[in-house]
Amino acid sequence: MHVNTVFSNPGMDDASRRQKLYNGQVVVYSATPGSLAFIEHARDMIAESFGQRDPQTAQYDMPVEDFAALLANVKPRFIHHPRSKELIRNLLGEFGCDLEQTYFDVPRLRTSTSDDYLTSGISYAFHPHRDTWYSAPFSQVNWWIPIFPVVPENVMAFHPHYWTQPVRNGSQSFDYYEWTRTSRQTAIQHVKTDTREQPKPEEPVELEPQVRVVPEAGGVLLFSGNQLHSTVPNTSGRTRFSIDFRTVYLPDVVSRREAPNVDSRCTGTTLRDFLRATDLERMPEDVALSYESRTTTPA
Ligand SMILES: [Fe+2]
Repeated sequence: MHVNTVFSNPGMDDASRRQKLYNGQVVVYSATPGSLAFIEHARDMIAESFGQRDPQTAQYDMPVEDFAALLANVKPRFIHHPRSKELIRNLLGEFGCDLEQTYFDVPRLRTSTSDDYLTSGISYAFHPHRDTWYSAPFSQVNWWIPIFPVVPENVMAFHPHYWTQPVRNGSQSFDYYEWTRTSRQTAIQHVKTDTREQPKPEEPVELEPQVRVVPEAGGVLLFSGNQLHSTVPNTSGRTRFSIDFRTVYLPDVVSRREAPNVDSRCTGTTLRDFLRATDLERMPEDVALSYESRTTTPA
């Protein structure tokens, strides 16, 4: 099975949808009341930081350090705002997820600036990667929502032929626990260069064929965390703002119903970062431990 399909507004339940995602397919939905409320909340927070400036074009009027400082203000506020978590819960409910069994990690506010203005640290331009190289569980579902209208020149790309094809990569030297201990806190210092150790491809990646999905503002793109994906070089003349977060369905974590491991060899798991949708209880430790002890190796 390889990635060949993008489903738009499919009438399938969460179980069938997860299976499609674990098989490498991609699903996109029109904006819903819940997703619109979510981007409204994000826009409000962005406006609080950017003031009178248009956040999508402010990069053209500001020294990059000042722009980075605005992002360094709004991004953590968005991540930790209690309303952000409430909005995820509502959205998951709307999307037919079982809130008792679905866990999510905190939502991120991402940016991609145009014309290589700021591509590291607080506004990192992601090289082709799978989240599973960074200790994401193989049943992880990624949710991606543009906050303002986007175009093919400022979204993200999938590199579908790598669903079944390994890429030589640096994941064997990535330890998630080491990473959270030393690196995450310092992202803001990396305005112009980035010295943090992150698994990257260690051979040339064929970026074509690639698939770019362009949802409407508030549209919701779902894909497997095992999908090879990257930030496209933004030549749109506008900074892209998007929300993303990840979910896992507990019974799938336990039974290892998940995407296949083709090339990930990292240490540790991000599972302990996930919170239960109903009450924000953390992922049970025994589940994380047992998942970890059954590390899969690439076929
Ligand atoms: Fe990613």
